[in-house]
Amino acid sequence: MPNAVIENIMTRRTIRRFLDKQIQEEELQTVLDAGLYAPSAGGRQGVLFVVSQDEETNKKLGRIKRNNSNVKMSTDTVYISKEQPSIADDASITNAFYDAPTVITLFVPKNFLYAPYDASAAAENMLLAAHSIGLGGCYIGSAWESFADPFGQEILKKWNIRTDYYAALHVLLGYPKDKQAPKGKARIDGRIIRM
Ligand SMILES: Cc1cc2nc3c(=O)[nH]c(=O)nc-3n(C[C@H](O)[C@H](O)[C@H](O)COP(=O)(O)O)c2cc1C
Repeated sequence: MPNAVIENIMTRRTIRRFLDKQIQEEELQTVLDAGLYAPSAGGRQGVLFVVSQDEETNKKLGRIKRNNSNVKMSTDTVYISKEQPSIADDASITNAFYDAPTVITLFVPKNFLYAPYDASAAAENMLLAAHSIGLGGCYIGSAWESFADPFGQEILKKWNIRTDYYAALHVLLGYPKDKQAPKGKARIDGRIIRM
């Protein structure tokens, strides 16, 4: 039963190669609204969305994140993406944010069982919204590494992040550099079990 939503879900791919151009304010707002309207456990709406469009800050945090990421490097046959290499695919990538012009960090309350799931639901809404309006997005599933040095700690203070919250993940946004969308991997068979 194809419709625009299903088509958008099927064609979204992770984008890691961005144009050196900031996204428009209206586009950013559309993506943030999609995050705000995501489901949340108990309807608590605990996720905070911190938007950074400061090139220098994003570059520094992306480098810290890369340096603190203990990635198992890809091989010729086992890899994340040939078309849009990740930090595990290409050791020469020094910025784990891939120079995306907009980096949104999702902060969630500590000691709340459902916090990561809330952030994850919001992130997927945002990535789908981004794709639907022609933006490229990338989910960065672990964010503590980005703040794990004195510069990162300073940024948390500058951003006024409550000490009872932690950085769950990042959503990177920008205009895709390549006209051709990545194909992505074939779906693995046998994952649906019907009784
Ligand atoms: C929980 C989670 C964590 C992820 N973390 C990263 C990451 O740290 N860096 C990155 O480049 N991509 C990350 N990704 C993106 C995946 O690599 C990507 O979704 C996957 O390769 C499938 O490609 P597709 O999104 O184009 O279908 C993450 C995705 C998920 C769902």
